Amino acid sequence: MAGSRLVHLCGPVQHGDARGRTLGFPTANIRVESVSGGDALAPGVWAGWARWKHGPWYMAVVNVGMRPTFGGETCTIEAHLIDYLGDLYGRTLELRLVARLRDECRFDRIEALVKQIQADVEQARTLLARRPANTLTEVEKWR
Ligand SMILES: Cc1cc2nc3c(=O)[nH]c(=O)nc-3n(C[C@H](O)[C@H](O)[C@H](O)COP(=O)(O)O)c2cc1C
Repeated sequence: MAGSRLVHLCGPVQHGDARGRTLGFPTANIRVESVSGGDALAPGVWAGWARWKHGPWYMAVVNVGMRPTFGGETCTIEAHLIDYLGDLYGRTLELRLVARLRDECRFDRIEALVKQIQADVEQARTLLARRPANTLTEVEKWR
């Protein structure tokens, strides 16, 4: 699997187009303030761990890309926190990207995108269960 090096990102959550909620996968759009660990943040869909400052870790699927299905023109980093039902905005999120799952694609139908994201979530659950957040080697403290 490509991208097994841990990438560490941190930044406040901004408002996106709020389309994620209507797809059934609300996302936190992150304005990245710090990146470390990888040579570069490769575009694509990632599995990783996410937490709010001082909060518990959540499994996450993260899209780094242009959202070609919707004709997006800017690169965004958006995380869907699996099994998290709370508010997504106004706080700083920390992300540890564990593995890159796939390239971002353009889907002809929204249903196909939703089905693919469901599959991404299942793949991330399996993968992250084998890589619990407390076993990640790079431990960085909040500044
Ligand atoms: C796990 C995941 C995978 C995604 N994969 C794709 C993709 O392959 N192609 C695409 O166009 N958008 C993809 N997206 C982006 C969604 O289209 C995006 O979350 C949605 O448009 C909401 O954007 P918004 O927060 O700006 O409203 C993905 C999002 C997530 C969370």
